[in-house]
Amino acid sequence: MQILDGVAVSAHIKSQLKQEVEQLKANGGKTPHLAAVLVGNNPASEAYVGSKVRTCQELGFDSTLLRFDTDITEAQLLEEVQKLNKDKSIDGILVQLPLPDHISPDVVINNIDPSKDVDGFHPITQGKMLLGQKSFLPATPYGILLMLEHYNIDVTGKHCVVIGRSNIVGTPMTILLSRNANPGNATVTLCHSKTKNLKEITLTADVIVAAIGRPKYVTADMVKEGAIIIDVGINRIADATRKSGTRLVGDVDYEDVAPKSSYITPVPGGVGLMTICGLMKNTLEAAKQH
Ligand SMILES: NC(=O)c1ccc[n+]([C@@H]2O[C@H](COP(=O)([O-])OP(=O)(O)OC[C@H]3O[C@@H](n4cnc5c(N)ncnc54)[C@H](OP(=O)(O)O)[C@@H]3O)[C@@H](O)[C@H]2O)c1
Repeated sequence: MQILDGVAVSAHIKSQLKQEVEQLKANGGKTPHLAAVLVGNNPASEAYVGSKVRTCQELGFDSTLLRFDTDITEAQLLEEVQKLNKDKSIDGILVQLPLPDHISPDVVINNIDPSKDVDGFHPITQGKMLLGQKSFLPATPYGILLMLEHYNIDVTGKHCVVIGRSNIVGTPMTILLSRNANPGNATVTLCHSKTKNLKEITLTADVIVAAIGRPKYVTADMVKEGAIIIDVGINRIADATRKSGTRLVGDVDYEDVAPKSSYITPVPGGVGLMTICGLMKNTLEAAKQH
């Protein structure tokens, strides 16, 4: 079993990005600039946005963090997004999800300029991806592809089972794994909460991508010997042995599944760090285009 080490791979990718940005600046190019929009003070969202802003600083990107109270209206938030769309200094816009219930994430995302959609959530971005046209890739699936590439894991002809069909992870992951590209060319099955015989399906998987949002849901009895396991889940569970009283676990029962797998991503230290790499690569690409 080999751990797919998000810490090491993201450090490698970030050092490449840092060099690229230095070169871009030295050649008179634009400093990539990411704007992050945070509504409210959900602790998980604060942590995600904080690490994205810190990574910008680390790589020599500019970053702007816009914070709003939860009582901001949808119309007011859309105005703020329009300002960012028009601001020529901004290359990428990310609106941290979830938003409060009175604001539709779809409406907000649909109002982001697709040329600044570095999270890869806009319908035009996803439509282009679906058609195999050049586009930003959704940050988490993109990060997973970068991880597979780094370890030279060829999924051609393999049976990949993606569990979870969200627009930001599961569904785009199935498209990217099955497209005629490298990484790609896999045979893909998409499972969700209405899937009847999940275990039967996962037992035939050469690769499992778990994006469910349920702690330790995938157990060893669901996994074929030698399978490749990509755990997207980030779940906080109680842990009395920790000072904080909690810890993060994935959607895969790591201790149970790891001995059976050929490769596995840990949580934390796996896909989450790769997501930030995907976001940063998209932002650099946006800056080059702008
Ligand atoms: N590492 C990262 O960078 C990163 C990025 C994004 C998300 N995440 C994490 O990844 C997880 C999934 O995120 P998401 O945004 O994709 O979640 P989501 O929108 O809640 O989607 C969850 C998906 O899992 C399916 N599902 C739920 N219970 C299931 C079950 N018992 N069997 C099979 N499928 C089941 C749901 O099916 P239905 O469609 O039928 O409801 C849904 O499609 C969360 O833990 C999230 O925190 C991590």
